[in-house]
Amino acid sequence: MTITDKIKFQNGIKRVIISEDDIKKEVKKCGEMLSREYEGKPLLLVSILKGAFVFLSDLSKEITIPCEIGFIAAKSYFESTDSSGNVTIEYDLAQDISKYHVVIVEDIIDTGRTLSCVIELLKKRNPLSLKLVTLLDKPERRISKLNADYSLFTIPDYFVIGYGLDYGEYYRNLPYIAEYNTDQG
Ligand code: IMP
Ligand code: MG
Repeated sequence: MTITDKIKFQNGIKRVIISEDDIKKEVKKCGEMLSREYEGKPLLLVSILKGAFVFLSDLSKEITIPCEIGFIAAKSYFESTDSSGNVTIEYDLAQDISKYHVVIVEDIIDTGRTLSCVIELLKKRNPLSLKLVTLLDKPERRISKLNADYSLFTIPDYFVIGYGLDYGEYYRNLPYIAEYNTDQG
């Protein structure tokens, strides 16, 4: 990292909006809920790269039942503000999901467009069930008809960084969630 990058790194944090402690408490609750709900069932946690990697890591440690973990990398293309688009899977799951109860673990639902496409695609593979858990929900920005089954925090229309979420690939390693200082350009 160059010195200019380091200065940029520090200046981008406007204020912490969700503390490390608050995240920890809610992640623990979510893990307990999933452990109860999927007890005795084949559970597959599916994460869409890259933003959810920190959440998935912490959440998986709070799950006390056996579970598998899989990753998807997706690229989506949309025309104007239409909620339907095309999604290309760049890295796919290894598991045959028809044998699993699938829980998608997301970092944030913003417009919901990418995730809607991924959900449609996964549904076609006939999972035993499919639910969506998100760390953050920004309902004000939603374009597609999409609701999480479990959302840990609802936030206003801020651009946020940290705990996996990036601005230009920086800040993913912050242990808390902060509002990004848009004056940074
Ligand atoms: P969508 O608009 O719901 O399809 O969101 C697509 C992706 O944009 C999310 O999975 C995030 O990776 C990213 N994103 C949306 N809002 C934010 C934000 O406030 N900070 C960082 N990334 C975001
Ligand atoms: Mg993401």
